[in-house]
Amino acid sequence: MSEYVVELRNATKTFPGVVALDEMQLAVKPGEIHGLIGENGAGKSTLIKVLTGVHQPDKGEIYVNGEKKIFRNPNDSAAAGIACVYQELNIESLLSITDNIFINKWIKGKSGLLDYKTMHKKAKEVMASLGQEVEPEKPAGTFGMGVQQMIEIAKAVLIDAKMIIMDEPTSSLGEGEVAQLMKTCRELRDRGIGIVFVSHKLEELFELCDRVTVIRDGKYIETRDIDGWTNDSLISAMVGRTLDNLFPKEFGAKGDAALKVEGLEEGGVLFDVNFEAYNGQILGFAGLVGAGRTETMRAIFGADPIDGGKIYVHGKEVQIKSPRDAIKSGIAFLTEDRKGQGLVLEQSIPNNLILANLQGFTKGLFLDEKLIEEKGWESIKGLQIKTPILDEITGQLSGGNQQKVVIGKWINTDADIYIFDEPTRGIDVGAKIEVYNVMNRLVKRGKCVIMVSSEMPEILGMSDRVIVMRGGRIMADVERDSKHFNQESLMKAAWGGTLDE
Ligand SMILES: Nc1ncnc2c1ncn2[C@@H]1O[C@H](COP(=O)(O)OP(=O)(O)OP(=O)(O)O)[C@@H](O)[C@H]1O
Ligand SMILES: [Mg+2]
Repeated sequence: MSEYVVELRNATKTFPGVVALDEMQLAVKPGEIHGLIGENGAGKSTLIKVLTGVHQPDKGEIYVNGEKKIFRNPNDSAAAGIACVYQELNIESLLSITDNIFINKWIKGKSGLLDYKTMHKKAKEVMASLGQEVEPEKPAGTFGMGVQQMIEIAKAVLIDAKMIIMDEPTSSLGEGEVAQLMKTCRELRDRGIGIVFVSHKLEELFELCDRVTVIRDGKYIETRDIDGWTNDSLISAMVGRTLDNLFPKEFGAKGDAALKVEGLEEGGVLFDVNFEAYNGQILGFAGLVGAGRTETMRAIFGADPIDGGKIYVHGKEVQIKSPRDAIKSGIAFLTEDRKGQGLVLEQSIPNNLILANLQGFTKGLFLDEKLIEEKGWESIKGLQIKTPILDEITGQLSGGNQQKVVIGKWINTDADIYIFDEPTRGIDVGAKIEVYNVMNRLVKRGKCVIMVSSEMPEILGMSDRVIVMRGGRIMADVERDSKHFNQESLMKAAWGGTLDE
């Protein structure tokens, strides 16, 4: 028997113009949680897809319990006991939990009819073993992301997976759901299953993993026991150099109230939200997932109808009934839902970069191709978008690099107020610094930046002022030089506590 449940040796995978994997290796033990980390475009998802039979490597071998395997397709990989919870969940929201779990693996009775009684019972059991007390007859779509993810894990458990891969599983979960997922991972580990856990969040890796492998530019760099890694050593292994300042905060000159929100109301969602945001400053919005921060921004941007309240831009009341109105008023909004917000995946990078500001890229009646090319390279360099060519199809980029294109698109608009909702979610440490530098440049040019973030270090590192929300209400409004400008106070407010003067 091999020491490893799954082993990938010397795998190379090329795409046109890109060596996505270059003699890659990964060795996962049974009963361990194995972290996998690397910059955007380093090859994590490609590595996973080789292990799940989605991609066939140009060369290299896969061993399962020491036995060499060839995966021609995902079924081969599943049959060998490898399961994967992809970041894009494969949940049919209209079907019941039971249907989702047993799809293509139906249990039939003697008569040949589907045996729902048994399937519901099993579905309920397996979900309960994952800490979810649910009625399996209900449509999967009526549950939140945390439960939907557990449905995927339940499928893996039911095929008796020896190894479960999770590609950035926490990126769309709230705090409570992350805690439950971690608990489940530990229980699966204790049952002897090997877990591969991909995340850009170093704290998560330190909390959860037994070993961590770092990859860079398609190459294997190093695997160590978790105790052998520090924040600094992980980062330098990942980016190939040391980064000394993760939050390069710079200060602009505080200007006018670019945006003023008065008595914003949205039935059952937002309650009397009042605040001002100034030119030349970054205003952070902190709070737990579901605190109403995104809802506030959507309401301001005209994406959701409001029931009351006024919005002023530079002291003048504006009527914002749709995102078009908001853009006309000089507001740009980078939403947290990157997919829903108009990246055209089958189009090239430059064509996406100009989408939010077509007028800015026309000369007479025609598109200004030279300017588009120039700006395209500027965005690619400035945001470190990893691409072999300028005209690469956006859908071919890695997940994190697609996000950078979205950021580039909004920066190419000439707005006055920039709202960034979770701008660094899913992007690597080096790219985060690039995004912070983009914000710095905006405030230095006198723009107003609002940053919604669930990452406390980033809120504290980059904001001039922080508003904390809870349950659709503003709980605290804290200046950078206040004694409350620290994690403890802001978390207290986020959980509903009041801060003294
Ligand atoms: N189907 C494809 N066609 C062409 N290039 C691809 C394809 N899939 C991935 N690539 C390229 O391979 C490289 C590795 O991408 P991969 O998705 O594995 O990165 P990743 O480490 O998962 O990054 P992220 O953290 O952004 O998700 C990238 O340069 C990407 O553009
Ligand atoms: Mg990826």
